[in-house]
Amino acid sequence: MQRVVISGTGLYTPPYSISNEELVAAFNEYVALTNEANRAAIEAGDMAPLAPSSVEFIEKASGIKSRYVMEKSGILDPARMHPHIPERPNEALSLQAEIAVAAAREALANAGRRADEVDAVIVACSNMQRPYPAVSIEIQQALGCGGYAFDMNVACSSATFGIEQAANAIKAGTARVVLVLNPEICSGHLEFRDRDCHFIFGDVCTAVVLEAEGEAKAGSFEVLGTKLATVFSNNIRNNFGFLNRFDESGIGARDKLFVQEGRKVFKEVCPMVAEHVGSHLQAHDIAPTDVKRYWLHQANLAMNQLIVKRLLGRDASLEEAPVILDEYANTSSAGSIIAFHKYSGDLAAGELGVISSFGAGYSVGSVILRKL
Ligand code: COA
Repeated sequence: MQRVVISGTGLYTPPYSISNEELVAAFNEYVALTNEANRAAIEAGDMAPLAPSSVEFIEKASGIKSRYVMEKSGILDPARMHPHIPERPNEALSLQAEIAVAAAREALANAGRRADEVDAVIVACSNMQRPYPAVSIEIQQALGCGGYAFDMNVACSSATFGIEQAANAIKAGTARVVLVLNPEICSGHLEFRDRDCHFIFGDVCTAVVLEAEGEAKAGSFEVLGTKLATVFSNNIRNNFGFLNRFDESGIGARDKLFVQEGRKVFKEVCPMVAEHVGSHLQAHDIAPTDVKRYWLHQANLAMNQLIVKRLLGRDASLEEAPVILDEYANTSSAGSIIAFHKYSGDLAAGELGVISSFGAGYSVGSVILRKL
């Protein structure tokens, strides 16, 4: 069977960063304005006043300190509370394709590959800018890749699910060089007026080049194995979709953006991921303590600490399980790949690492890697 490697990664970081302090100040201004506008209803007991957010809560509950976004002024405007993202004509590259092209170019350069050597492009992320034509096909054309392209969505786990599809195509001989792209414009599915989640997400794009081992540059990471699992849950959900317009009463309702039961997700997903990764490693006769690095999905700091503690039987160091969510927040499918992109260069030949993603579905994926 053809051996498969990751030969390059790329990262596009948006131009604007929002600190917790800025985000909370705008949110609390929105709360004050809304409560003032509804003073009579609140005093009559017909409406509960909105509660303010706090920087201390956000940092303690999540570990997030800031996030990058494609547009900042609309999010921080208490009268708007969502980004300004103008529509583009069909002739122009779409925004999601634009950030993916930037990340892809870096990944190709790192892999020592030209775009015309790529014969499959997979866009794997939580939200597509439109249903069709596939965003990946637009990117394929913009980069000048050959072969085929398709979009897929497994929410926060999309990256590992995409990597498995790429690895399978290479093993089967239907593609030799595959780009897996995770353009996440999470500010588009986030309700910035909801204090339970207004701090959670950030925008970013990551890119991974996979190819047949024999042709890859030295220092690539061999994909020793991939393992995917899904179990249905309503605890992370977004009901936005093409049938929405057929029931006018639901248009713009809260469930048409990201909603979650954060506590339940935390409790249910941590043991699921630890068991998933542990059994995947066991199937490869690898002890969790033999893994040099865990590049985990970046949703919540305590969650990651708990998962790695379950695997190792002790607390993990930052070197063993790097953290990027403090700076980037939750970037959905891109989080584990940002960690891999930033914290994989120092591994020595033969050392092992695991990329693991998890989230809505529920879905969980793991990719075991060995540095060549
Ligand atoms: N500022 C201040 N207080 C806040 C707040 C905010 N921004 N948001 C919520 N609170 C309050 C709540 O109202 C609640 O108050 P109460 O106890 O009086 O009811 C209290 O803080 C605790 O809220 P809770 O939502 O239970 O906090 P938490 O500790 O579970 O942290 C998350 C919330 C979302 C950070 C956390 O549950 C999480 O990250 N879960 C995992 C999510 C995940 O991985 N999802 C995958 C998505 S891809």
